[in-house]
Amino acid sequence: MDQLLIALDVPTGGEALRLADLLRGAVGGFKIGKRLFTAEGPVIVRTLAAKGDRVFLDLKFHDIPNTVSQAVAAATSLGAWMINVHASGGLRMMQAAAEAGRATALAEGRPAPLLIAVTVLTSLNASALAEVGITSSVLDQVTRLAQLTQRAGLDGVVASPHETSVVRALCGPGFSIVTPGIRGGAAAAAKDDQERTMSAGEAVQAGASYVVVGRPIIGAPDPREAAERIGSEIRSAISR
Ligand code: C5P
Repeated sequence: MDQLLIALDVPTGGEALRLADLLRGAVGGFKIGKRLFTAEGPVIVRTLAAKGDRVFLDLKFHDIPNTVSQAVAAATSLGAWMINVHASGGLRMMQAAAEAGRATALAEGRPAPLLIAVTVLTSLNASALAEVGITSSVLDQVTRLAQLTQRAGLDGVVASPHETSVVRALCGPGFSIVTPGIRGGAAAAAKDDQERTMSAGEAVQAGASYVVVGRPIIGAPDPREAAERIGSEIRSAISR
């Protein structure tokens, strides 16, 4: 199921590779975040990419345009399929990132990576935004940054289940929306620390291009069976 991305939130490369071997063919790609990347380094990205896996390198780059563009170029050379940055890094930073991804891919004869922006972290509410000087509502800030992302020529954004349909309506059908926070439906595990959740089927119906699922799959007694169940839920949501 191409639209189902698995968060490999495990501490070691060995565990990540074991899960990837188990899930390959049933899922659309693997997300590698700061913990695994910091512990194990780029070899995990290279290894999965060499096996033909789509790797979403979730390092949320946020720095001056020159530094972010160099980081995106390096991630592209590793073989990452999807890379993300913080939209709050600004228009110039995002434009530099998009240009670096495309230019590196072209120079190396690879497909250009999908470049995705994080708008507002779901851990931030209106009062946390106010503390850093942003007085608009969370949703206003999300929509402002999603539009800025689109203007910068990026491929899409990460959006919570709560925001997915608003961003889809605003940014149109060609824009990629990556939605984590998947619970319920076929992912009927514990809610863990996720608050605003949707099932995978609901997220796709709300406009998600990809859903990111971690614990309901990697923590399941039979991860492959759990992935297949969530995959069929997505398939039936698409055909509805
Ligand atoms: O285990 P779970 O399904 O909650 O994992 C979701 C993944 O998506 C985790 O890697 C988490 O860090 C990430 N994520 C999220 N909410 C966001 C952005 C990313 O849960 N807003």
